[in-house]
Amino acid sequence: MIEISKDLYQSSAHIPFMHFTLHQYLLLTEEPVLVSTGTMQQAEQVLPEIKKLLNGKELKYILFPHIESDECGGLPVFLKEYPNVITVCSELSARELSGFGYKGEIQSKKHGELLTGNGFLFKFIDYPSEVHLQNGVVFYEETRKIFFSSDLMLRFGDAIGQTIDSSWKEEVGAINIERIPNENQLETLKNSLLEIEPKFIAVGHGFCVNCK
Ligand SMILES: [Fe+2]
Ligand SMILES: [Fe+2]
Repeated sequence: MIEISKDLYQSSAHIPFMHFTLHQYLLLTEEPVLVSTGTMQQAEQVLPEIKKLLNGKELKYILFPHIESDECGGLPVFLKEYPNVITVCSELSARELSGFGYKGEIQSKKHGELLTGNGFLFKFIDYPSEVHLQNGVVFYEETRKIFFSSDLMLRFGDAIGQTIDSSWKEEVGAINIERIPNENQLETLKNSLLEIEPKFIAVGHGFCVNCK
């Protein structure tokens, strides 16, 4: 794992034939938070590194934005290692997880709700990323001003450990109808994103962004 921003560790996989990179993040605070699990295979690979970084601490939370293999496929791997871990996700994802037989503790979060812990404050923002444009969530860690963009602000290329510079307004402005194929929902998402002012975008795919 690479410390891509203060307290924030990135774990990645690059898929050469797709020119595509997938990332997950560990926010290493008193109450450690994993953002997205990666696939089952990625989770198994990264677990020893996470254990090393946690240095005997328990993983407290797993946040994931929507049901998809790269976002939450590795949940069973982490639940086995950390049976008390609390999974935090959208209401729809929470209902789906039970259907998949997930037995760990789940907290569901709505738009505007917070998750406060020792060393962080996450705000949840609706993101119509689930099938049929239903709501998943994206996360904003207000203490460090880090936005976890999931499949938004996505770029192609081998982007492991790399950052680029951009402005938050440009990044929000570039979210297009291909990403959210409904004009009203796209507009609503952009408006809620413009209410925050991140300094760093921890992307799910591609290059992380330093916001100028
Ligand atoms: Fe996704
Ligand atoms: Fe993704």
